[in-house]
Amino acid sequence: MGSDSRGHPISSESDEAVAAVNSAIQHLVGRRAAFTPSINEAKTYDPECVMAQVLSGLMACGLRKEGGLAAAREAYAIASAQRPRVTPRERLYIDVLEASIARDAVRVVQGLEAVLDTHPTDLLASVMVQGELFWTGEMQRSEAISARCDAHWSSDVDGHADWLALRAFDLEEIGQLDAAERCGRQCVEQDPDNLWGAHAVAHVLEMRGDSAGGIRWLDQLKQGWDAGGPMKFHLWWHRALCHIEEGEHDAALDIHDQWLRNAQQPIQQALPDFYLDVQNGASNLVRLELQGVDPGERWHALGDAVEPSWDDLSNPFTTLHVAMVLAATEQWDRFGELLRAVILYARSEQSVLSDAYRDAPSVIRAIGAHRAGDYQQVVDQAADLRQAFWRFGGSHAQRDVLFQILFDAARRCKDDALMQHIGADLERIGFVDPLQRVAYRPVA
Ligand SMILES: [Fe+2]
Repeated sequence: MGSDSRGHPISSESDEAVAAVNSAIQHLVGRRAAFTPSINEAKTYDPECVMAQVLSGLMACGLRKEGGLAAAREAYAIASAQRPRVTPRERLYIDVLEASIARDAVRVVQGLEAVLDTHPTDLLASVMVQGELFWTGEMQRSEAISARCDAHWSSDVDGHADWLALRAFDLEEIGQLDAAERCGRQCVEQDPDNLWGAHAVAHVLEMRGDSAGGIRWLDQLKQGWDAGGPMKFHLWWHRALCHIEEGEHDAALDIHDQWLRNAQQPIQQALPDFYLDVQNGASNLVRLELQGVDPGERWHALGDAVEPSWDDLSNPFTTLHVAMVLAATEQWDRFGELLRAVILYARSEQSVLSDAYRDAPSVIRAIGAHRAGDYQQVVDQAADLRQAFWRFGGSHAQRDVLFQILFDAARRCKDDALMQHIGADLERIGFVDPLQRVAYRPVA
């Protein structure tokens, strides 16, 4: 029996497996690409190590694709067979994996909260619970959980910089921008290569509308991102938002080509339809188009990327971005099929996930109508759902693209009242002076 670097037991006879599990946790928390090799190493040293299998299974579920679940079930079968031989905390993790395979976010969160009740510095559980609640749009609850654990953290606990990054993002999403910025900057002072800390501060600057500050912030840190996984591309997406705000459209297009959708990037080669990359790419192009920029052939590369999984209904926010891709590439038959599949899924299933899809059909119709130039239809479909966008998951900055599409339609329909209402909505969400932003100016 060994332990992670915060003293949480890892049941295994193999010291090498324990060390590899600990490395895998650190890489996962740090959003680094080395997570996958570390976990494979741990399973090689000890195939029956529960935490190695749990991490492997959770990683497969974390792809947020139906296709990832087979590997997750395999990991669960091995881990659950070891249940009598491991600690109560590890048994909770086995339950979390089971719930994750069942895509039951409620049980996943309950299990991770139970881990944190007795092990408040279990950084893996904190990161997993934040990720889960992020995709169900429940960041208030995420912040409440991290607030409870916070008293147990200090600079003496290994991973303190990662903890500060986690707290910073929770605080940012609930609108406590000053506290979030303090935490995020403190994290990056301790660990300049910390992707999640850089990300939290980028969100703060985005909410404040400080695009010049966002570019400076990300520019000074970018040399530390080489070891990053897909999160590094998301940081470049944040930078592209700043350039769009500054009117530097060519810079946003260059970022798109180099970082957001580039077949030469090994990570994107291995997983061309990874959900975050699909979201980043589609969101960037829609925002550029709303500024009058012609993205040329770029939509087609995204069309190719979503080819293997365009009809996968594992994540509502991704599905909305897939709808943007299908509409932009004029795959209207598929667009219609996707819409029908979402309607059927939301009606026929009774689950946390299908519930999250409940309002997706109207927003998908609005996305299609916007592409087809039927702006009144966009307003009719999506205007009344503004308060429900959070249910699709994602951050305020990410969901902003939905408000931008709706605002553009309202402007073209000369619906001044709706434009004002959207501005008020965005202000309540936490955006500072939203109507001063390029996407929300009353005259395009
Ligand atoms: Fe982000």
